[in-house]
Amino acid sequence: MVGARLTVNGQDAPIAPCAPQATVLDFLRERGLTGTKEGCAEGECGACSILVARPGVEKPTDWVAVNACLVPVASLDGQEVITAEGLATPGADGTPPTLHPVQEEMAVRGGSQCGYCTPGFICSMAAEYYRPDRCEHADQDVDAGEHTDAEHGPNGFDLHSLSGNLCRCTGYRPIRDAAYAVGEPAEDDPLAQRREESAPAPVATEYTQDGSTFLRRNTLAETLELLRERPDAVVVAGSTDWGVEVNIRSRRAGCVVAIDRLAELRELRVESDHIEIGAALTLTEIERRLDGEVPLLAELFPQFASRLIRNGATLGGNLGTGSPIGDSPPTLLALEASLVLADADGERVVPLAEYFTGYRQTVRRPGELIRAVRIPLPLSRVTAFHKIAKRRFDDISSVAIAFALDIEDGIVRKARIGLGGVAATPIRALATEAALEGRAWVPETVEAAARVLRGEGTPMDDHRASSLYRSAMLGQSLLKLHAQTTEAVSS
Ligand code: FES
Ligand code: FES
Repeated sequence: MVGARLTVNGQDAPIAPCAPQATVLDFLRERGLTGTKEGCAEGECGACSILVARPGVEKPTDWVAVNACLVPVASLDGQEVITAEGLATPGADGTPPTLHPVQEEMAVRGGSQCGYCTPGFICSMAAEYYRPDRCEHADQDVDAGEHTDAEHGPNGFDLHSLSGNLCRCTGYRPIRDAAYAVGEPAEDDPLAQRREESAPAPVATEYTQDGSTFLRRNTLAETLELLRERPDAVVVAGSTDWGVEVNIRSRRAGCVVAIDRLAELRELRVESDHIEIGAALTLTEIERRLDGEVPLLAELFPQFASRLIRNGATLGGNLGTGSPIGDSPPTLLALEASLVLADADGERVVPLAEYFTGYRQTVRRPGELIRAVRIPLPLSRVTAFHKIAKRRFDDISSVAIAFALDIEDGIVRKARIGLGGVAATPIRALATEAALEGRAWVPETVEAAARVLRGEGTPMDDHRASSLYRSAMLGQSLLKLHAQTTEAVSS
């Protein structure tokens, strides 16, 4: 469609003649906005970070940092984007531009050497600068350091906002110094003011070039009808998987359908007996809206990729790909979640434990979407998520283990354990659950169950870990849980 367009740094920008599967990164660079860099093209370095205006959690609009290398430009039809070039205020009559406060702090504190990573850091830092509740968590008395810890500055700056940005030559200390030095946005700051107005509404899009098409419909019903007609379509929400397929594996689907802004997939409801989480809410939105209400998810989110990825990624996408090493399935298995699957004929509810059928295969039929994830209430009180990976953040799990246990009077009444990375699909550790249930939560039980847990699944040798290591980590995680919880259970 000729009319597809977005706003970049306040300027109207038609998407044509970009291909429907061009990324925002390619689009921006072709327009001369080369501050947005390509480092990895798979969402790991953050050199391509940009700001997008999205519906906010606390204000009508949030400025959200995303990886431009992973986002199809056609998915931003009607949306607003800011790049590093758009943060500074242009000077009048040939005078130099006035740097944005985060740019100024990076410059004066030596946060940039070769500069390749810098525009990406600037955009991620700017998103955190504009996070509405950042200053609520600032220390009024800096010396008291009430809110300051290893990952939060006295100005409320959360370093996790930079967890998806890599720098190869400056070193992170000056970058952290710059992050911790930024103050509150000024009252007349235009991007701060922009947060008070609604984010751009999603726009029905039909963008075709050279035989391939990008489509967005207004409603779930229209989208399901479309998928009935085009069961071959690739469905994207956060497109964190799509971007890797396009950039690294050179895949080009004939038809891509966007579902990330469907209102029916973006609800979060807490009912008396379950919590229902829309499949197209981003992980960041879920994290902020739940605000710790599901402790196991609260433990998962900081370990799930980076903030940049969590700003795009969805539970629906993590489950929809059927990956055996996604981080959400083990937690959702431990929480006994079910999926609400929808197609043009109606809905069905499938327990997650029955959803995966083989390597990257599920019971989801062609034309069917995950509409929501349901987590039954009440929640188990003893929960933990252990991610074994080579890096603490922004890494793929070698093994992921999630526990949800009910322990009353020292007896394990119920045990649910979800595992990732030890079989062709995420699995429940059924034999270990049976070895725990009805028994005292004491070292003897736990050691015996840990031996059972070491034998669960069929772990493989690969470049991330050996099968022996994976098995050892399974057993160790239960011993660790026991050590962590003994005090809590006895109190
Ligand atoms: Fe590395 Fe986009 S280029 S995250
Ligand atoms: Fe060179 Fe960061 S300043 S990579």
